[in-house]
Amino acid sequence: MQSIIVKTLAGLEPVLAEELRLLGAKGIRPLKRAVGCEGDMELVYRANYELRTALRVLLPIRSFSAYNERSYYDALRDINWTKFMGVNDSLAVDAVTQGEVFRHSHYLGLLTKDAIVDQFRDRYNRRPNVNTIAPNLRVNVHVQGTHVDISLDSSGDSLHKRNYRRDTVEAPLNEVLAAGMILLSGWNGKGPFVDPMCGSGTLPIEATLIATQTPVQFKRESFGFFKWPDFDAKRWNALKSAADARIQPFEFPILASDKESRARNATSLNLMSAGLEKWVRVEKMPFDKLEAPEVPGTLIMNPPYDERLKVEDTLAFYKSIGDVLKKRWTGWNAWVISSNRDALKHVGLRTSKRLSLFNGALECGYHQFEMF
Ligand SMILES: C[S@@+](CC[C@H](N)C(=O)[O-])C[C@H]1O[C@@H](n2cnc3c(N)ncnc32)[C@H](O)[C@@H]1O
Repeated sequence: MQSIIVKTLAGLEPVLAEELRLLGAKGIRPLKRAVGCEGDMELVYRANYELRTALRVLLPIRSFSAYNERSYYDALRDINWTKFMGVNDSLAVDAVTQGEVFRHSHYLGLLTKDAIVDQFRDRYNRRPNVNTIAPNLRVNVHVQGTHVDISLDSSGDSLHKRNYRRDTVEAPLNEVLAAGMILLSGWNGKGPFVDPMCGSGTLPIEATLIATQTPVQFKRESFGFFKWPDFDAKRWNALKSAADARIQPFEFPILASDKESRARNATSLNLMSAGLEKWVRVEKMPFDKLEAPEVPGTLIMNPPYDERLKVEDTLAFYKSIGDVLKKRWTGWNAWVISSNRDALKHVGLRTSKRLSLFNGALECGYHQFEMF
C-alpha cells in the first residue's frame, strides 16, 4: 500500500472520490483540487487508465518544512534519487508554489532539478539530462507556505489529453471538466443524452465513453510509469485487457447538435477519431428547432458567453434558452454551465442545484433546472 494523490479540477473532488471508491482505493480523502487515497501499483495503473476526472496521479515520496533555499536543497539531497532513476535517464520537474519562502515556481523547479542532478554528479561524476517532453522521471513539487510535498508523477502528460481531439471550435471544454459535469449530473448511461450546443463535441464524446464503459485513456500510447524501473508490463497488460473487456454496447440515443456546420463537422471528426461515431447522432440545428428524443433523459449545455454581444442580447439569449427548455424539454434532467451568472438567472426556471466549477480561469455556475 502506498499513499496516492490524484489531482483534479476545483469542484470535481466528490466525483473523483467516487470513481476512486469504485476502483477499490482505500482511505479516500477529498482535498483541494485533489483526492488522497491509498493503494498498490495496480491501483496506480488503473487510476491512470480509467479515471475520467483525474488530471494526474501522484505518488508522494517526502513531505517536509523548508524555511529557506538551503534547507529545501538539503532536504531534496537527502532523498535517494537513484531508487527512482539511473544516471543515464532523463528528468523533468513540475513545481507549484504559494507562499513566502518560494515566490516563483520556475525558480523552484530549477532548484529542485539542481539538487537531484548534483546528487548524481557527486556519485557518478556525471549528470542525468533534463527532458521536459518525455522524461524517465517526472517529479512534482508542491509548496504551500513552508510545507513541501515531493511526489513522483505517474501520468506523464496530463490525463485530460485523451488523444481523440482532431478539431476544435471556439472555447472547447476541458475533457476532465466535461466528464465531471456529466458525472455530477447523475447521468450514468441509463437514458438518452443530449448536448444541443455541442461545439467540438467534448460532452457527447465523454458521455459515450461513460455509456459504453470505455476506459477513458483507450487511445493513449504511454504513461509516465512506463519508464519507471519497477514497471511491470505483464501486470499492466492484464489490467488494460480486463478494463477493455468491460466495454459494452449502449441502448439509448446520444444526440449532439449545434447551429453551426463547423461545429457539427468538428464533432463528427472527433467522434470518428475516437471510433465512437456509431453511437452518436450529430445534427446541425438551432436549439429552438431541435426535437427532443421521445424518452426524457439528461441534457447538458455549454452556451457561449459571447463578449462581443451586448449585455441585453446575452440576457435575451439565455431567456430564450429557458423558454425552449420549458416548451420542448419537460421531464428532462437539464443542466447549463456558464461564467455569466446574471445570464444564468435569465434562464428564468427554478434551479434545483447550483454548483460552482472552473472552466479554465473562469469561475462558472453549473445549474440544474427543474423541468417538471
Ligand atoms: C462554448 S461553445 C461549446 C463548446 C463545447 N462544449 C466544446 O467542448 O467544444 C458554444 C456552442 O454553442 C453553439 N450555439 C450558439 N447558439 C446556439 C443555438 N441557438 N443553437 C445551437 N447552438 C448554438 C455555438 O455554435 C458554439 O459551438
